[in-house]
Amino acid sequence: MTLALDRSTESTPSTESTTVPAVAGASLRVPLVTGGDIGYANLDHAASAPCLDAVRSAVDEFLPWYASVHRGAGFASQVSTRLYERTRDILRRFVDARSGDSVVFTRNTTDAFNLLAKALPRKTSVIVFDTEHHAALLPWRGPNVRRVQLPRTRLAAVSVVDEALAECPQGPRLVVVAGASNVTGELLPVAEIAAVARKHGARVALDAAQLAPHRRISVRELDVDYVALSGHKLYAPFGAGALIGRSDWLRAAEPYLAGGGATKLVTEDAVVWNTGEERHEAGSPNTVGVYALGVACEQLSASWDVTGEHEAALLERLLKGLTSLPGCAELRLFDAPVDRVGTVSFVVDGFDPGWLAAVLSAEYGIGVRDGAFCAHVATRRLIREAGVEAQQAVRVSLGLGSTEEHVDRLLLALRQIIARGARWEYTKTDGRWTPVGDPRELPPFCA
Ligand code: ALA
Repeated sequence: MTLALDRSTESTPSTESTTVPAVAGASLRVPLVTGGDIGYANLDHAASAPCLDAVRSAVDEFLPWYASVHRGAGFASQVSTRLYERTRDILRRFVDARSGDSVVFTRNTTDAFNLLAKALPRKTSVIVFDTEHHAALLPWRGPNVRRVQLPRTRLAAVSVVDEALAECPQGPRLVVVAGASNVTGELLPVAEIAAVARKHGARVALDAAQLAPHRRISVRELDVDYVALSGHKLYAPFGAGALIGRSDWLRAAEPYLAGGGATKLVTEDAVVWNTGEERHEAGSPNTVGVYALGVACEQLSASWDVTGEHEAALLERLLKGLTSLPGCAELRLFDAPVDRVGTVSFVVDGFDPGWLAAVLSAEYGIGVRDGAFCAHVATRRLIREAGVEAQQAVRVSLGLGSTEEHVDRLLLALRQIIARGARWEYTKTDGRWTPVGDPRELPPFCA
């Protein structure tokens, strides 16, 4: 039988991987505006990570078996249903969730938090830091939401939550906190915040979008109630994500979407909704995406030691290089250095971040992100606090597809651009910088 079925009994590979898992696109070459081509340096993992090779092969293997889930009587439907449902257990293990926790499949973190926001009991007080990215900042609406400024020490961050919770009215409370900042990669004191939340009878929702691709997460050790994550940041870019956490609020809430799959029974004048995870998964689910997400989680779970070392070494190299660049100011949440993942945002004095990113792409084959990273409030404040004149920044984010050569090429490129400018002329159209008369052609399948 195929790997797809064999894997059902053993969700976590028993052997630790000793090499960094390979990703699709590792040998991708991209054209340069100045002529020729170069290996693509993908330094934008925090936005969307490349597909793991293992995920790609697993999906390829599964596709012939792909069929409807849950209600199909055919054998392929049974295979698909098995893989879809089994992935709930893989996700539960991936974040070390409690046995009774629900695993609801969503599109991504944004979708997961919108679902949670709709499932909150009436008048739930929500405390959220201003540094959250929009997926975790915006779903909570109304007078019971309190946005608090993240102070510049981890200790003070915990105190701010303590104070905010003390001022909340009686009733349910939720604290929303990112595991790692999508702007700076710094880790937030999640366990400490959760301990304070418990004291006030509050629940904690962990935004693991940026943490889960880099670190082992334990819901039980952190003592958080919900975890949201995205497959496209977890090397499984097939459109699935998840909300994992306590089932009581989810069971009691109105279905997130009304439609088939969420129902037990529909009559002429009534609907009986499911009470399990399916309650919030109306419509034909993204079986391929869910399967891919599970495969990625298994692969990452078997590789933490090696991926952690790989990323830490690259981050050190990157930070050392950036520190020595003239006029380069890095954005930081906290005054003191803290544990962090490989995401670094910075502004180079006198250089428009969008222009810089365009030059890095066109002349050096390097992909970074520029702007405010779907964390507008945070980015603007951190830029102000870094003491530079800018509205936006450049973000470099490392991951499994990153190499020493990528980091070195970036640092050399920045040094050259700062010293002597670009070799090509650029123009700003619709807010984006592009090379004038860009001769680079998109691949034929884009035509
Ligand atoms: N939150 C995503 C990012 O950081 C969009 O790039």
